[in-house]
Amino acid sequence: MTTTSGSTDRTGVLPRTALHASLSAPLLDTMTFLNEVTLRHPQAISFAPGRPFEGDFDVARVPGLIETYLDHLRERGHSEEHVRTALYQYGETAGQIRDLVARMLAVDEDMTVDPASVVVTVGCQEAVLLTLRALFTGPDDVLLVDSPSYVGVTGAASLLGIPVVAVPGTPRGPSPEGIERAVREIEASGRRARCLYVVPDCSNPTGVSMRREARTALLDAADRLGLLLLEDNPYGVFSTVRRPTLKSLDTRRRVIYLGSFAKTAFPGARVGFVVADQLVEGADGRAPGLLADELAKVKSMVTVNTSSLSQAAVAGLLLQNGGGLRAANESLARHYQATMRCLRESLAAQLPVGAPESAGVRWNDPDGGFFLTLDVPFAADGAALDDSAENYGVIWTPMRHFHLDDAGDRQIRLSCSYLTTDQATEGAARLARFIKDRARAVAYAPW
Ligand SMILES: Cc1ncc(COP(=O)(O)O)c(C=O)c1O
Repeated sequence: MTTTSGSTDRTGVLPRTALHASLSAPLLDTMTFLNEVTLRHPQAISFAPGRPFEGDFDVARVPGLIETYLDHLRERGHSEEHVRTALYQYGETAGQIRDLVARMLAVDEDMTVDPASVVVTVGCQEAVLLTLRALFTGPDDVLLVDSPSYVGVTGAASLLGIPVVAVPGTPRGPSPEGIERAVREIEASGRRARCLYVVPDCSNPTGVSMRREARTALLDAADRLGLLLLEDNPYGVFSTVRRPTLKSLDTRRRVIYLGSFAKTAFPGARVGFVVADQLVEGADGRAPGLLADELAKVKSMVTVNTSSLSQAAVAGLLLQNGGGLRAANESLARHYQATMRCLRESLAAQLPVGAPESAGVRWNDPDGGFFLTLDVPFAADGAALDDSAENYGVIWTPMRHFHLDDAGDRQIRLSCSYLTTDQATEGAARLARFIKDRARAVAYAPW
């Protein structure tokens, strides 16, 4: 029995209602569900994890990365004592490698960024959390997301109690008309749309990339509607087509740019960053400051600073590669593209266009090598996934998990970044067998 105050009785069991409501939201169970399916079927080929390929991981290189960064500090005239402090001591809240992050953005993305507007974070995930915390003042501030959307963002919004409205995506990203409709509906309900979260390059979960014209149209719409844009770009360097980031096209400080080293360096470092060059009114008549300074205040109460060791490793990687990571990732990008090609070719061979067994099956043609959207003629739900894993040895992610409403129930997200080319080919063949059998079973199911 529980007490009315929500505390535990003598059994020591906390009632669910004593915890934040977001912890009971199905969204936060998504990862647990996928992990459980994967653990139950360790032999299955899994198109579920959006993890980077591990083939190039090399533990022997890590000490050298840190040494490179420490040498860089020495070359810049810092004393041995300073170098030691930089590695051992609590560090600057906004990060100690902000200048190197700004240089990377110049080298890789042609972006001119003031290091003062950068905050180095514990993965992109912390950047999302800090930004949402700073921008959302209460229940009347609404976050728009390009839908289906990355669960890291909708999950963080849910933890913070921020209302989220989905803007239905198109094969070219969110449409200005869809955004305007959502903003007007939010305004009509007496609330305000604060910003739109979007992944313009090789989106997670769909794999869709926005064309250049769509990017300019999005910036114009944001300006017209008074919206900020949260641009998240972990996959841009892996795209076959290089397009300008929203931030590099942004002349009106509409875009807050989120970055991650999880795919371009390694996720275990947990280093990401945010570029927030928006001006914020100064307190007590003082001169305006940067939004980045406000984000650093939030960070000082969340993680204090990003691990100095991790920042040193990432900095070493940047320094060893001429300041950027695009060139350093070229061979990995080619690997991802080859894996994606194998997946698509294997699907096309098993499910040829026009064949009766291919009816209702379609997939898109992503520029990057991480995610692909597959349409199927049946409900792609947990029961279907169990059947696929158990009887066909292949795991995937129901697209439904990335929607806030009931949409996407006949779509699958396939991720091939973690696989070899052979696994992608074989996995797609198994998947095609599963799809054909399931489609047949559904077609002949008794009423
Ligand atoms: C859209 C998106 N943003 C960011 C990240 C990376 O986040 P982090 O740097 O916290 O690992 C991912 C990784 O899965 C992602 O898919």
